[in-house]
Amino acid sequence: MTTTEDQPTTTTTTELRRFPAGFAWGTATAAYQVEGAVAEDGRTPSIWDTFSHTPGRVVDGDTGDVADDHYHRFREDVALMRRLGTTTYRFSVAWPRITPQVSADALGPVNPAGLQFYSTLVDELLAAGIEPVVTLYHWDLPQALEDAGGWTSRRTAERFGEYAEVVAAALGDRVRTFTTLNEPWCSAYLGYASGVHAPGRTEPAAALAAVHHLNLAHGLGALAVRRAAPSARVSLTLNLAWVRTEGTSPADHDAVRRVDGLQNRVFLDPVLRGEYPADVLVDTASVTDWSFVLPGDLDLVHQGVDVLGVNYYSPTVVRAWDGSAPRAENDGHGNSAHSPWVASTDVEFPELPGHTTAMGWSVDARGLTELLVRMHREHPGLELLVTENGAAYDDVVVAGQVHDVERTEYLHAHLHAVLDALDAGAPVRGYFLWSFLDNFEWGYGFSKRFGIVHVDYLTQRRTLKDSALWYAGVIAQNAVPQ
Ligand code: NOJ
Repeated sequence: MTTTEDQPTTTTTTELRRFPAGFAWGTATAAYQVEGAVAEDGRTPSIWDTFSHTPGRVVDGDTGDVADDHYHRFREDVALMRRLGTTTYRFSVAWPRITPQVSADALGPVNPAGLQFYSTLVDELLAAGIEPVVTLYHWDLPQALEDAGGWTSRRTAERFGEYAEVVAAALGDRVRTFTTLNEPWCSAYLGYASGVHAPGRTEPAAALAAVHHLNLAHGLGALAVRRAAPSARVSLTLNLAWVRTEGTSPADHDAVRRVDGLQNRVFLDPVLRGEYPADVLVDTASVTDWSFVLPGDLDLVHQGVDVLGVNYYSPTVVRAWDGSAPRAENDGHGNSAHSPWVASTDVEFPELPGHTTAMGWSVDARGLTELLVRMHREHPGLELLVTENGAAYDDVVVAGQVHDVERTEYLHAHLHAVLDALDAGAPVRGYFLWSFLDNFEWGYGFSKRFGIVHVDYLTQRRTLKDSALWYAGVIAQNAVPQ
């Protein structure tokens, strides 16, 4: 017999889909995007200081000079994170704060004030019950290293390894996860090929040299972290592309293969398998002979990771370009005809119909599931973190509130995509929403808002957007509404 207790007590109960116990809930930022204080406590310029101060490089001439003033307001910011209930926080260390006198030949002295800032931040987080996840390189290369060749030079990778050791030694007693590099694809291709990011160079061959030296930096950085902080986990964060085509010709499918090679496999294969993909070497033969890969390099690069960070925002759709009309180039990352695959191959990125974010990026949460499941399939046992996911919209504060319905919908769909990947067996351990705060969105300056916390750049006032309150509810329940 059915008792009344068996009946639903209400017809409005929202069904929930649960995450595994212990799932890490975080937000993410990066040093140059939030800190400001660019000339304080001994910091010297990075390539992004130089680039943003060069007229015409960043929308509205914005720079990171002040940004969110997080360098001075980090206690307030950590308190806000605590209010949201986040259990982890991903931030990056600004290399020019740690070794401000670095040159291509030597790391130079360590700046105690630079280390102290991050050490205090780590303590503040731990006191709030928030686990720090530290990225060692999120694009702010010391300018002196760029002047000596930047990522086209292997000496940059060597100095990076030494810098990584310094940071891991200083923070490794309290930090469990160190990420060597964030999105080396952007550093290499946007920095050295399309030129829309610092240092703004447009040399396809240099971009491929940068790819290799960034991979080498991961390897040397991983070795350094393991020496200095043996109990820490080493990770690498990649902006993997979910590449597909709506075309049917063999040339369309070949375009998918080529972009997959240059965006995904050229980073994954050397780090996880110790080799460059043969087809990528062939595809790029007209651009470079890869002679910058020296004997022994691949053994150094092949350090693997203890956990792989996956950043995902938007799908990548390609098709073969037959040259009869101007090339469609919106790959969502400011790609342009200078990128190596465009220089050496006939690929274009057509516009997709449907909803796009303020970045003009189309929304398709399936890509996140596909990428996580693919990593699980191709590298069984490899633990995964979603180290970035989120969306920019043109938010406005009205009566102290921000009704960012579209962002909440975006997050809702992508958290279901993570659950779908978990259901398929992918070992996803956590999710970091990009971003905690509105911040300096690189070439777009402050014109694009990714935060779940709104920042008024005139007053530095922080306002929780509706999406932040919604995210707090997800975290509290460790579950997302159906
Ligand atoms: C990738 C980068 O890691 C981050 O710095 C950037 O702001 C977001 N994606 C959004 O474009």
